[in-house]
Amino acid sequence: MKKKVKLKKEVKYGLMGIIVLIIAVVFLVQFISYRTSTNYKLTELGYSKEEVKTITEKLNAEQVKDILKMEYHKNLVVLLEEKYFIFDNLERYLNYQNENPDKSMSDVVSMVNVNRDRDYYTDTVETDLSLGDLILVNKYHYLPDDFTPENIVSMNLQYAYDDNSVRDYVYDAFLEMYRAAKEEGYQLITNSSYRDYEWQETLYNNYKTSRGQAYADAYAARPGYSEHQTGLALDITCYNCEKNTFDEFPDSEEYQWLLKNSYKYGFILRYPEGKEDITGYSFEAWHFRYVGKDMARKIYNSGLTFDEYYAYYIEK
Ligand code: DAL
Ligand code: ZN
Repeated sequence: MKKKVKLKKEVKYGLMGIIVLIIAVVFLVQFISYRTSTNYKLTELGYSKEEVKTITEKLNAEQVKDILKMEYHKNLVVLLEEKYFIFDNLERYLNYQNENPDKSMSDVVSMVNVNRDRDYYTDTVETDLSLGDLILVNKYHYLPDDFTPENIVSMNLQYAYDDNSVRDYVYDAFLEMYRAAKEEGYQLITNSSYRDYEWQETLYNNYKTSRGQAYADAYAARPGYSEHQTGLALDITCYNCEKNTFDEFPDSEEYQWLLKNSYKYGFILRYPEGKEDITGYSFEAWHFRYVGKDMARKIYNSGLTFDEYYAYYIEK
């Protein structure tokens, strides 16, 4: 009888020991997994609980791994909240922000997305021609040396000044827009359109010789870097404007009409007022770029320049 009680006691203590051991192991495992977790490592780097939450919500596992390799950045979370944040540009945003502390975070993102943290015409790349009507041609994206668009047709003198030509389907789109404008009492006319490499070279050099390089770069693309060489761009002005000069066009009703309606026909204003830092060009009220109706509507609704839209939504 006595032996039985003793045995029972031993079993009882044994069981208790096992339970304590299990609890200790569970705690240990939890402790180790917490100390090796991403959240803990981010906290160790200096990020607050709130910041950790944002980082892990906004970024995927691979991206978080990259963050863990970097030092703490007080601007990281503010950047992540930016609508047009692109992870691959992170280091460049941080550097650019450092060099331009007065710029808003949204300006930092916009500028870097369109390569404006780099000098014009540096680190240039050949543009991705597979994108068709959505190719980007700017101060960082050039056309191949031998690039010549197909289906270039002459424009009738009713719609354009002498010696203008454009891709056939862009011509169709222009005619549709021309007619719609005419119905509302506005007569448009194309002043400049397709220009081949040599033509653009002459134009740029003329500006450079007469007004200097800075002026030339503000108003004209260097050869190989002009949208006019794509056959997708038109410089449009008003037929009835007194002087028919580009100086007058920004104040014309025709410009206001185009500003509101051109997207319906597949065109976007390529170098808008107030976006000179982004596009790299002075405001050009006359320069319209064909991208197709669907895309023109999307770009118009986004309020972005084509350069910004391309960086965030189109570039592969
Ligand atoms: N004026 C525009 C920027 C061009 O030369 O292509
Ligand atoms: Zn133009």
